[in-house]
Amino acid sequence: MSNQPQFNPADCRIEEITSAEELQQMVKSVAAQIDAYYAEIGAPEILLVCILKGAEIFHADLLRELKTPAKIDFMQVSSYVGTASSGELTIYKDLILDITGQHVLLVEDIIDSGLTLSLLLDRLSKRGPASLKLCAAFDKKEARKQPLEVDFAGMVVPDKFLVGYGLDYEEYFRGLPYLGELFLPDAQ
Ligand code: IMP
Ligand code: MG
Repeated sequence: MSNQPQFNPADCRIEEITSAEELQQMVKSVAAQIDAYYAEIGAPEILLVCILKGAEIFHADLLRELKTPAKIDFMQVSSYVGTASSGELTIYKDLILDITGQHVLLVEDIIDSGLTLSLLLDRLSKRGPASLKLCAAFDKKEARKQPLEVDFAGMVVPDKFLVGYGLDYEEYFRGLPYLGELFLPDAQ
């Protein structure tokens, strides 16, 4: 056991930024853009890839709004910037399905520096998908360190520490139905 004092989520304050109702509207609007895009390029189906853990909620909501036939798969990765400035990608859980010739849509919770997703897009593009696109519920545009365009973004959010709707702090708060800014106890 560590000597660190136990973090107590009940001591935190969370200020709502986006309500559950607004998030549901956001999902509908993103799903409509996605349906329109794949109809336009004539893709009969897509592979909707959930980037664990944060995208779990958004991925499930999106899946139920899309009209385009969708298969699903899951991936868990993290990026780390060490001595190599380009960063390194660690894959904790890889896809089960073969993406060769598939229209792949990655679903992420939030794009912050952009490092994780640019490394992941680079890696997956080598597996020969018919197309590879990125969708994110939240885009922290001003925090970008790596040039990265989000093909389908739910909403642009401020560069603050956000929780809820899948986003966590120390694994807590993912289940909040709204998006909020987190204030830790010593910062109150
Ligand atoms: P990046 O774009 O490589 O910096 O990493 C994005 C990842 O960092 C996201 O998938 C989240 O897991 C995490 N992250 C970034 N900003 C926040 C936040 O405000 N709250 C919770 N997690 C965040
Ligand atoms: Mg994440």
